Amino acid sequence: MIPLGSYPRRRMRRMRRDEFSRRLVREHRLDAADLIYPVFVLDGTGREEAVPSMPGVSRLSVDRLLPRAEECLRLGVPAIALFPVVEPALKSPDAAEALNPEGLVPRAIQALKQRFPELGLITDVALDPYTSHGQDGLIDESGYVVNDETVSVLVRQATVHAAAGADIVAPSDMMDGRIGRIREALDAAGFIHTRILAYAAKYASSFYGPFREAVGSAASLGQGNKYTYQMDPANSDEALWEVGLDLQEGADMVMVKPGLPYLDIVRRVKDTFRAPTLVYQVSGEYAMLKAAAQQGWLDERSCVLEALLAIKRAGADGILTYFALEAARWLRAA
Ligand code: PBG
Repeated sequence: MIPLGSYPRRRMRRMRRDEFSRRLVREHRLDAADLIYPVFVLDGTGREEAVPSMPGVSRLSVDRLLPRAEECLRLGVPAIALFPVVEPALKSPDAAEALNPEGLVPRAIQALKQRFPELGLITDVALDPYTSHGQDGLIDESGYVVNDETVSVLVRQATVHAAAGADIVAPSDMMDGRIGRIREALDAAGFIHTRILAYAAKYASSFYGPFREAVGSAASLGQGNKYTYQMDPANSDEALWEVGLDLQEGADMVMVKPGLPYLDIVRRVKDTFRAPTLVYQVSGEYAMLKAAAQQGWLDERSCVLEALLAIKRAGADGILTYFALEAARWLRAA
């Protein structure tokens, strides 16, 4: 028997009893303005190809992308992130196509900016869609991705994107020192307003599988891996070091990637630096949720919104998610 006197005065359930008091003390809210929509862009017109491992996601030619961009604006999603699907014939060991000012990405930027100037445009700075070997940088005879030579190419790639009208360039390559050199080059070329989103703590994750399938870099990469530049999933302190360096070099925002399995990193990064921190809920996270939902094993809407809210609660200021449009619609209806 518990004596009445010692029975808890503190009843945690009081505030949970009614919807009004649950809403009143809710600490975090997910909003369409927190979301960034990543899209896969194809060359040509009238093209739309489903990505098998990402049900509901398609690779789209630019004309097909325009209605999606309009939908982002309508729903209050502030930005999209472009990922090109580059034809195998245009891939080469030196990724020359990445520097083509008339390439797919610059043309997509121009088309989107012309139609929807107020939509934020983020471009991926990395060479993997353009290299015949599928690595994010240039390689030497041994296959090692060479840092400084790669950075020189990334700097030019970022400048091409900025010149075409990108609002934010996002280096996802994990080379050392690229943020500083990109900032320097952008400033020197007069692109002082172009923001840099650094994929600062990007892990060598197996959850990128469906993305590599979607952009066609999986085949090029073959049995290769990215362990010599992306971070070891076993490490946490190193993420702070990476983020600190990127901020010091001039990053306007930093990113932790993937999302859900790395929320401890998100929290540490946010607490340590208090800088704008974005999180990428990556392709494999999307695939897991979709697959379970399709089987009827998980309720898609509530699980997706819970996962996104959890990412925000961990410290994210924004989330790149393939669910951006669906989530924004659900939030509107809620
Ligand atoms: C490539 C890049 C990758 C992703 C974004 N940019 C893949 C990789 O590093 O191999 C992954 C995104 C996702 O899985 O959704 N630089």
